Amino acid sequence: MSFNKSINQVPALLWGERGYDLLSELIEKKAYSMLFVLVDTNTNEHCLWPFMSQFKTDLPIEIIELDPGESEKNIETCHELWHVLMEHGGDRKSAVINLGGGVITDIGGFVASLFKRGIDFFHVPTTLLAMVDAAHGGKTAVDLGLYKNQVGLFSWPEAILIDCTFLETLSPRAMRCGLAEMLKHGLIQSKTHWDSLKETSEKDWSHLEGLIKDSVNIKNAIVDVDPREQNERKWLNFGHTVGHAIESLFLDKTPENPILHGEAVAAGMLIESYLSMQLTHLSRADYFEIDYIITRFFDTLPLTETDVPALLAFMATDKKNNNGKVGCTLLCEIGQATFVEDVSIDQFESAILHYIN
Ligand SMILES: NC(=O)c1ccc[n+]([C@@H]2O[C@H](COP(=O)([O-])OP(=O)(O)OC[C@H]3O[C@@H](n4cnc5c(N)ncnc54)[C@H](O)[C@@H]3O)[C@@H](O)[C@H]2O)c1
Ligand SMILES: [Zn+2]
Repeated sequence: MSFNKSINQVPALLWGERGYDLLSELIEKKAYSMLFVLVDTNTNEHCLWPFMSQFKTDLPIEIIELDPGESEKNIETCHELWHVLMEHGGDRKSAVINLGGGVITDIGGFVASLFKRGIDFFHVPTTLLAMVDAAHGGKTAVDLGLYKNQVGLFSWPEAILIDCTFLETLSPRAMRCGLAEMLKHGLIQSKTHWDSLKETSEKDWSHLEGLIKDSVNIKNAIVDVDPREQNERKWLNFGHTVGHAIESLFLDKTPENPILHGEAVAAGMLIESYLSMQLTHLSRADYFEIDYIITRFFDTLPLTETDVPALLAFMATDKKNNNGKVGCTLLCEIGQATFVEDVSIDQFESAILHYIN
């Protein structure tokens, strides 16, 4: 295996037990001065020792722990992290290992990319969502107030290690969030993947590793042709135009009990599928199949008509907007997506109301 990143900066993808040996070897070759391992409270408890006992290094290691959850993914936390890196002797030859879910990989990648104008980092995703989505594709970002991922940069890890045994301690709720992004991969690009996923049950994840690989391959193939999100990469935002607005709304409404990213994306995919039926000729049969499968895994979110103006306002500020029009990825059929530049606010409103009622 070559460790060099390709022209499109796809990092080394390492799997399972053998992945630890390759990661240890790669880090030894890079001759870092020291390593920081970024965890949150839960990954500190459940994932740190399994990781440390299989990863071999003689380098000094500092563990940095954050509180869990989206509310930590902001610039204030970054500021604290940069201080911690400085105080513990971080220099240009140090590196960060992000051991956690999408919050840890997003913020850890961002912090490393700016510290000393950029130090190396590695992702070891511990949630299904991070294994299939957040750890790949080189997007790092933090939230700005209630607005999702507004401050960030494209920056690729040196390597990503996927060890599915971390999922043994993940809650069913967090597993479903990963499934939402996997369903998205099927819907935008592969009917075969969608068909495999719709057969899965939450009680039987026996084919999970193969399904994870399929999702990762779909995401990487799209990122490979369009790393900077000029065209095809926009498909990966399916469900997210509305989904991010829903996430922002609940961060505001019930900050002590926000809904999770995958739950917002699942609702966003339902609403954007409904829009697809009207705007991009998604068939009624495909729409009802999507509705049936998504509602099998996800309860309808507690949204009311009074939430709609706030949701539309969040969408109007979304970073994908051009000249006041809302761009949105929609479906032509299951397995085929298209980006529509100018969906009107009224069209979003009626699709959201359809979801609520
Ligand atoms: N960069 C990208 O391309 C990209 C793509 C998709 C999502 N994201 C981002 O990812 C984030 C969501 O990621 P997430 O769902 O992984 O959230 P998360 O990181 O908050 O993890 C979910 C919960 O699971 C816990 N946890 C993690 N691993 C565990 C384990 N093995 N056992 C037990 N508990 C564990 C965490 O502590 C947390 O409480 C959002 O901020 C989203 O914007 C980024
Ligand atoms: Zn997402």
